[in-house]
Order: sequence, then C-alpha cells, then structure tokens
Amino acid sequence: MRTQVAIIGAGPAGLLLAHLLHRGGVDAVVLETRSQEYVAARIRAGILESSSVELLESAGLGDRLRREGHEHRGIYLQWPGERHHLDFVDLTGRSVWVYGQTEVQKDLVAAGTAVAFYEVSEVELHDVTADRPYVTFVDAEGVAQRLDAEAIAGCDGSFGPSRHAVPAQTFERVYPYSWLGILADVAPSTDELIYAWHPHGFALHSMRSETVSRLYLQVPNGTDPADWPDDRVWEELATRLGHGQDGWKLTPGPITDKSVLPMRSYVQTPMRHGRVFLAGDAAHIVPPTGAKGLNLAIADVALLSRALIALLVDGDAALAGSYSDDALRRVWRCTHFSWWMTTMLHVGDDPFDAQLQLSQLRWVASSEAGARGLAENYAGLPIGF
Ligand code: FAD
Ligand code: DHB
Repeated sequence: MRTQVAIIGAGPAGLLLAHLLHRGGVDAVVLETRSQEYVAARIRAGILESSSVELLESAGLGDRLRREGHEHRGIYLQWPGERHHLDFVDLTGRSVWVYGQTEVQKDLVAAGTAVAFYEVSEVELHDVTADRPYVTFVDAEGVAQRLDAEAIAGCDGSFGPSRHAVPAQTFERVYPYSWLGILADVAPSTDELIYAWHPHGFALHSMRSETVSRLYLQVPNGTDPADWPDDRVWEELATRLGHGQDGWKLTPGPITDKSVLPMRSYVQTPMRHGRVFLAGDAAHIVPPTGAKGLNLAIADVALLSRALIALLVDGDAALAGSYSDDALRRVWRCTHFSWWMTTMLHVGDDPFDAQLQLSQLRWVASSEAGARGLAENYAGLPIGF
C-alpha cells in the first residue's frame, strides 16, 4: 500500500491531521490498534480553548460544536469560605467551550475524510530518515501489510512506538497525587467550572452537557476506585466544593464512570527526526489541571498539517524544518501553565506550601494582572504562539 502520510494513532491528533491533510490535497492512511467504537467512547478531555474552536470551525468541523457545545466566559476559583469568578471574556476577549473529546472524535469520524485501519497490531516504523519511510503492521484480519509513505506522523500517544523512533531528550515530573474522576447523570450544580482548593485536597466540578456532570477529586497515587463507593465520592465532593457555603448546593446523581488518573508532565524534544513527526501525547503529557492536553494536540496538528502540505504539495521544506521548534514553544508554555495550576491547587503535607498556595490564589483572584495571566493561558494563546 502507498500513501503520502502514514499516520499512527486515530485519537484526536491522528484523525484531525488526516482531515486537515485531506483538505490540503494530501493523502493519508491512519493505523490504530483499538476499535473505532473504543476510541470514540473513551472518556477524556472536555474543554476546548478558543484557538481550538477556531481551528475546528475553519476545518468545517464546527457545526455541532456551536449547536451542542456550551460557551463559558470563565471559571470559578475557590478555597474555603471564598468563591471568585474569573471572566476570561472581560480579561482577554476569549472564551472556552465545553465539548467532550468524545464529541470531537465523533465529528472527525462523521467527516469521513480519514482512511483508517482499526484493530491493527505489530506497528513498526522503518527507514525514518529516508525520503520514503514505511510502516509495517498486521491488519485486523491477521494479514501482514506494508504502508509506504513520504512522511510518518506519530500520533499514537505515550504508549505507541513512534516516540521511540525519535532520538530525543526527555523532561519529566511525576506528581505525588492522582485524580479520581467521575461522570454522573445529573445536571451540573454550577454554570461554569469550579476549581477548588481544600485542606482535604483539590476538587473540580466540570460538565459535559445540561444533564451530565464530570467531577474530580485529588486522591493519593495508587488509589483503588473500589475504595470510593458512590456515597463517599459525593460526600467528599460536597465537602471540598463547599456544599452549604452561601446557600450553594451540590446535587448528587447516578455515577456512570469512575476511574483514577495518574498525573505527570513529560516533554520529548525534538518532535521530529528525519521524516517522522510527533504530535500530541506522543511527544508530551501535561497533568490535566487547566485542560491543556487535547488543546495542545490540536495546536500541534494545526502546525504539522501546514508543514506537511507545504512539503508534499509545494516542495517547500521550511515549515517541516521548523515544526519541532514552532510546536515546542507552545508545548513549554502549556507545560508551565499546567504545572502552575497543578501545584497551586493540589494539597500536600507541608503547611508552608499551603499558605503559599492560598496567597497565590488570593492574588490571582483579586489582582487584574494575576487574573489576566491565568485567563490568557486558560482561554488559549493563538495558534502559532
Ligand atoms: P490519544 O488520544 O492518546 O490517541 C493516540 C491513539 O494512538 C490512541 O487511539 C491509541 O489507541 C493509538 N495507539 C497507541 N499505540 C498504537 C500503535 N502501536 N499503533 C497504532 N495506534 C496506536 N486532557 C484534558 O485536557 N482534560 C482531561 O480531562 C483529560 N483527561 C484525560 C484522561 C485520560 C485517562 C487520559 C489518558 C488523557 C486525558 N487527557 C485529558 C489528555 C487528552 O485526552 C489527550 O491529551 C489527548 O487525547 C491527546 O490526543 P492524541 O491524539 O495525541 O492521543
Ligand atoms: C476537565 C478536565 C480538566 O482537566 C480541566 O481542567 C477542566 C475540565 C473535564 O474533563 O471536563
């Protein structure tokens, strides 16, 4: 089989790249180890920053997002006894949208622009520094296949093979806590997301729609979700989110999904070696606080699609040459922001740190400069920053 770009991984990075390349007149084939249904149903990110929304719209993927997504002007930041609204639109002129990664994934599949092979195995990259690299794999029927290409895009997350094809320096920070995340069939108890600092640990009230809520609790690493029966989850969420404070109430409901997510920061540089280009989680992981993972994958792909179209349609290698440096500027900005949000809001056992966190939260909530710094990063810097 032959194509112009072999894309490994059919997550949001891989499918969006296939879509953007298709619109730019470049052929691509996507290889994915999981089934299409599994990938589409995976509960992950939920917040799109403005530049992601603009990119999806300009790629013809904005209709359902505008109809069914929910635009939020900002977030609430809180600690015991105080809740403050940060209005991103007033502060930066930019907003964010609540629209699940599952929905982005469905829109990409519905666009029908990606030629994809699901349930493949034994994916291997070959001759990555040559002009004609290729990928070998075994298809869903068990037949060994070879895919010849002019470039390979590694969009296969942190467990895929692509990142090992790039000799790189790695940077990592592992955090001493995890998130217990739940999805619940209950209307959100808030109009906008609540990020809460509490002596018991961080809590976040997010949402997916008018009838589905998504909430998270900071828990110790190694936590078994079985130790958190539903009643315990709601009780702890009520405590940390301030049920009863100024008349605010958290309404519990049936929990439909419960999982524990470890948290780490990871960056691999460079993001390109010869004709292999990494995008999304294949090159970097951020802790979820601040909702940057999906947005960063979208931003990488915006740059990579332009670089590959210039290379393969116009024969211009300049953007491909600068792809890694261009992408890493934003990656490090988001890596810093996610680390900063994480360390400001998660509670450890050092009382000195706790006082610094509270002081920082008070400053962010009361100073326009502090609030604008958070808002600029959260609502998202322009693509190409
Ligand atoms: P992925 O979505 O991971 O896609 C990579 C794809 O490659 C997968 O489909 C995988 O099956 C496939 N693959 C792997 N190995 C191979 C192989 N050998 N061959 C072919 N294909 C392969 N971000 C947020 O902003 N907010 C959140 O709340 C949030 N929650 C998350 C919860 C979880 C459990 C996880 C894992 C991530 C979460 N993230 C969150 C991060 C966000 O979902 C990711 O940043 C985003 O999915 C990145 O997209 P991607 O396409 O780069 O990677
Ligand atoms: C969600 C996840 C986040 O990490 C975040 O900062 C905001 C929202 C979510 O899953 O809805």
